[in-house]
Amino acid sequence: MTRAPLAPFPHLRPRRLRQADWIRRLVREAVLTPADLIWSIVVHDGAEAEIPVPSMPGVPRLSVRRAADVAREAKALGIPAIAVFPHVDGEKKDEHGSHAYDPDGIICRAVRAMKDAAPEVGVMCDVALDPFTSHGHDGLMEGGRILNDPTVERLVEQALVQARAGCDVLAPSDMMDGRVGAIRRALEGDGLQDVMIMAYAAKYASAFYGPYRDAIGSSTVLTGDKKTYQMDPGNSDEALREVALDIGEGADMVMVKPGLPYLDIVRRVVEAFAVPTFAFQVSGEYAMLMAAAQNGWLDEERAILESLTAFKRAGCAGVISYFAPRAARLLGA
Ligand code: PBG
Repeated sequence: MTRAPLAPFPHLRPRRLRQADWIRRLVREAVLTPADLIWSIVVHDGAEAEIPVPSMPGVPRLSVRRAADVAREAKALGIPAIAVFPHVDGEKKDEHGSHAYDPDGIICRAVRAMKDAAPEVGVMCDVALDPFTSHGHDGLMEGGRILNDPTVERLVEQALVQARAGCDVLAPSDMMDGRVGAIRRALEGDGLQDVMIMAYAAKYASAFYGPYRDAIGSSTVLTGDKKTYQMDPGNSDEALREVALDIGEGADMVMVKPGLPYLDIVRRVVEAFAVPTFAFQVSGEYAMLMAAAQNGWLDEERAILESLTAFKRAGCAGVISYFAPRAARLLGA
């Protein structure tokens, strides 16, 4: 970047470029549009159109039918894609997360309904076992340990089932080693070479996933924590290694998660790799903003747009967010 020498005050008065809306708009560096958003939703298996989740005000679990409505709404709002996550009833969960590879399971039915309703809207699925396991972990467990390679085999099955249902983007969020390469090979082998992979490449063991676990129904069953597979929040160089591995294994896009507390990681990834980099504004970030707004402590609409713009400024190609439809409306879509 070429930097012009700065004139000293009073020749240079930075406030000149802030004096009116028209000039602020003209010199704005990062601009948020509906095309930057991936709308995150949770679906459930029952008939109720919406089931409220107390820690996620405004983000209820949706029926498959409502998911189809969401796809149509995304199209109308100019939101390019939807990320869909499942809530699974307790009696359908088992140690192996068997329901994850059911071609008629909740996720596959939601994918088909959404693609039927609005084929031009992208659908992204989480590849991980946690909504489906009786212990709430993303992988298979043995004697308190999460097994890597046997889990990867299961994840490949799950990914293939989702891709065959019409999922456009597979997003492995499990943080097992080697899973991106295994999924990529399986897709190629199955004639599914156009299915994209957005790797949750730098995913941290974070407290900010709490409300999501309420929404998908894993918080009551989860034993222990996910620190043996998700990253340590103190690490940054390690994020670059994780991203490098996933790109090398065939990821088309990468993600950093959570979002706002990890924008430094986003920036390093963008600068180091120059591949489409996304961030997930996770459930805890959503809940924090909503809780403060509901107390009258924050201006909700401004906080939503400011937080999302921060991702663009950091260099994100886009943001996965529960605020997507509200933001798109606020942006005048
Ligand atoms: C699990 C998964 C998580 C999220 C997406 N996929 C949580 C976790 O790792 O426990 C978090 C999403 C959110 O908090 O909004 N594979």
